[in-house]
Amino acid sequence: MKSISAVFATSSQVKRQQLQFNEQTGLIHAFGDLSIPQDKIDFYFNDDCLAFAGMGDIHIHAREDVSQKHLYKEDFQSAGLAAINGGVTHVCDMPNNPIPPIDDESYLAKLKLTEKSLVSFLLYAGIGPQTRPLKLKVPYKAYMGPSIGELFFKNDQELDEVLSHYRSQWVSFHCEDPVELEKHKTEATHHERRPVECEILATKTALRLIEKYNLQGKLCHYSSGEGLKMINQARARGVKVQCEVTPQHLYFSQDQLSDVERGFFQMNPPIRFEYDRHTLLEAAKRGEIEFLATDHAPHSKEEKEKGTSGLTGLDSYGAFVTWLLVDQKFTPERIALMCAENPGAFVNQFLNELSAHYPPFKKLGLGFGFLRSGFMANVTVLNLKSPYKLEAKDLRTKVGHGPFVGVTFPGRVEQVFVQGIAQK
Ligand code: DOR
Ligand code: ZN
Ligand code: ZN
Repeated sequence: MKSISAVFATSSQVKRQQLQFNEQTGLIHAFGDLSIPQDKIDFYFNDDCLAFAGMGDIHIHAREDVSQKHLYKEDFQSAGLAAINGGVTHVCDMPNNPIPPIDDESYLAKLKLTEKSLVSFLLYAGIGPQTRPLKLKVPYKAYMGPSIGELFFKNDQELDEVLSHYRSQWVSFHCEDPVELEKHKTEATHHERRPVECEILATKTALRLIEKYNLQGKLCHYSSGEGLKMINQARARGVKVQCEVTPQHLYFSQDQLSDVERGFFQMNPPIRFEYDRHTLLEAAKRGEIEFLATDHAPHSKEEKEKGTSGLTGLDSYGAFVTWLLVDQKFTPERIALMCAENPGAFVNQFLNELSAHYPPFKKLGLGFGFLRSGFMANVTVLNLKSPYKLEAKDLRTKVGHGPFVGVTFPGRVEQVFVQGIAQK
């Protein structure tokens, strides 16, 4: 048995407590005021640090699939190293691969490849014009319009027909309306070709379909302030919809980017304007956005120079969280929800049934995100009093670049425990 003493933050309290875990099973034994004598504590973190249940990023693109075509961008191992570097202990991977996981067989074949990673992976299965639900209970991803990859819809009718087969399933949406995208395709800049109207229209459609087919909906990498109003109205009438936001949409806006940066910062949905950034920050602070998720989407430097959409984010997750805590005054309780408990709860609902078909999941106990007996002994410790300028050499993603290179954060990742093992 090993133990940690730290100021731990959960959604209900912030307090110096002790965590005891079994390093063989990698599971938590006990958490609370355990009266373990000081000299018997294995890992002590001073009051400059704040410890959370292991943080989880439920939206990444690790690029590995059975085709192995995109390993030059990232693979499950390098994505795992970037995650740990950023204080992230478990992730969920998106299906827009050369060979997308769209049925039980291709899903399990891709899952098998994740075993070389130090962090745990859950996979989304893809929804496309020809797909049907898996027998396995899994989360799904639908690209409402074209982004990266071949799995997307051309209009709402096509999406509506396919989703009619996915009643009551967990479906995450990339919200950019394909017809509206088409209308703007000759505009001068990337963000003008994919304006907020695309997201707002797609949000309307997604909310309508979530309600119509009783889906457990999630809107990915939400970027427009206006759209949030519709989401809140839908929630008020009982529509089950959650929301992700990325660090880059909370930190950057088109107004601040230089022309050189603008090209590199290209992603879908694009970085927006100050109004959107502020509205998203305030909404996240109030708890209207459930997940901080990076949309870690590595592309090589050459691809970025040619104008490929996607930004990395795993390496800077924890440092970015210190900015939310220290500079933006997010409460530790709110961060515990957005970065640990909500991501944990999202993943945990699939683990039990999936473990019957995928035995490695049996080792995950009750799962992630909670400092309770039987859950994974995953812990993210942030030092809030240790300013740190992120440099490219600090990144572990294969592509070696990221939007926060050059940014000074108020703190950094002090330590990460994955399955009871200290990683630093
Ligand atoms: O910018 C993006 N990149 N948006 C997406 O929807 C996909 C992602 C990728 O896979 O690179
Ligand atoms: Zn997306
Ligand atoms: Zn994505």
